[in-house]
Parts: sequence; structure tokens; C-alpha cells
Amino acid sequence: MRMQTKKARLPFILALCLCLVFALSACGKTTDDPVSEDVEATAASPVSGETEEYKSVLVVYFSHTGTTKGVSEYLHELVGGDLIEIEPVNPYPEGYSDALDPAKQEQRENARPEIANEIEHFDSYEVIYLGYPIWWGTTPMIINTLLESYDFSGKTVVPYATSGGTGIGQSIKDIRSKISDADVKDGLLVKSNDDIIPWLQGMGLYE
Ligand SMILES: Cc1cc2nc3c(=O)[nH]c(=O)nc-3n(C[C@H](O)[C@H](O)[C@H](O)COP(=O)(O)O)c2cc1C
Repeated sequence: MRMQTKKARLPFILALCLCLVFALSACGKTTDDPVSEDVEATAASPVSGETEEYKSVLVVYFSHTGTTKGVSEYLHELVGGDLIEIEPVNPYPEGYSDALDPAKQEQRENARPEIANEIEHFDSYEVIYLGYPIWWGTTPMIINTLLESYDFSGKTVVPYATSGGTGIGQSIKDIRSKISDADVKDGLLVKSNDDIIPWLQGMGLYE
């Protein structure tokens, strides 16, 4: 009698096992699917976001011997946005003293040295940090080329410069005279990177 009862239960136990196997595999599927969907969604969204949205902050600079470049890279770390170095079509002689005469000549001729690279979607920028070395008391002439190549009206322009000692004042006057429809800030002659955060905070451009 007992043997017969066991035999009678066997199909029921087998059916139960089958159900369990199905149930487990179904469970595995429902937990796997959302995870793989989530991974795809997360991987796709930043890429599309970055390509579709333009930044509103630009750090653009010219540098001959690298000092303004170093300052610009640090500033860019603080304020974000895009970082663009202005490249002359005809590069200046490398050494400091070799560049003095060509730069003076350009100033005498009120030249507009050509810029090799373009700034894309310039319209999207609202705040433009503009960096340069002081050359013969003011901006290098290639900065004038830049100011006349794009429409700066309505933009906030924040100049900064490096020099061997000359102040930034004359260059600010010259920039304002070129782009009178922009809000050109007083600017900073950067002697040390430590000056930058307090300067930005004073303008309400950094917290
Ligand atoms: C052509 C030329 C003209 C310069 N004129 C001045 C000047 O009038 N006053 C000054 O203090 N420094 C002057 N300098 C020094 C630069 O402003 C200084 O070395 C600056 O930090 C260089 O920056 P950069 O390395 O980004 O080119 C001049 C340098 C060059 C090459």
C-alpha cells in the first residue's frame, strides 16, 4: 500500500519540479531585462546630451610663450565650457626677443594677423573669457582680428592677461572700443593663479 502511494505521487512531484524550473527561469528573465535596459539607457543619454547641447561659456586665448596658455587651462578648470587657443596663420618667431620687432611692426601698421582656426557656434556663448599676453602695452593685434571676426554684442567679455609688468588697463580700453555692444569687465592681470578665484567671486562668476 505504501509503495503504491509513493508511485502515485511521483508524477505530481515531477510536475511540481517542472513548474519550479519554469518559474525560476521566468524570474531570471524578469530581473535581467530591466538591468540590461537600464545600462543601454545610461550609456546612450550622456552621449546624445553632449552632442546636442552647446556650452554657454568660452575660454579663448592667444599665447606666444605658454604663460597665458597655462593660466587659461587653470581658468577653464574652474569655469568649464569650451577652451580654444587662437592660432595665427603665420606663427611668430618662437623666442621672446625675436617676436618683439614683428609684433611692433604689426602694431604700427594696425595689422589684422589672420587666425587659422574657427570658433564654431559662437552665438551660443554668453560669457567669454578672453586671454592674451600684453604686447607693447596692449593686446596683440591678433586679438583685434578676433574681436572683428565675431559678433560680441550682448555678450559678457571677461579679459585677463599676463605680462612682464605692464598693467591691463590700456588693453581693456582698446577691447571696449572694438566691441562697444558687449559688457566688457575690468579684467585681471594674472600674476599668480591664486588671484583667479577671488577675482571670479568678485564678479559673481564663481561660488
Ligand atoms: C612682442 C612682445 C611684446 C611684449 N610687450 C610687453 C609689454 O609691453 N609690457 C610687458 O610687461 N611685457 C611685455 N611682453 C612680455 C609678455 O607680456 C609676457 O612675457 C607674457 O607673460 C607672455 O605670455 P605668453 O607666454 O602667453 O605669450 C612682451 C612680449 C612680447 C613677445
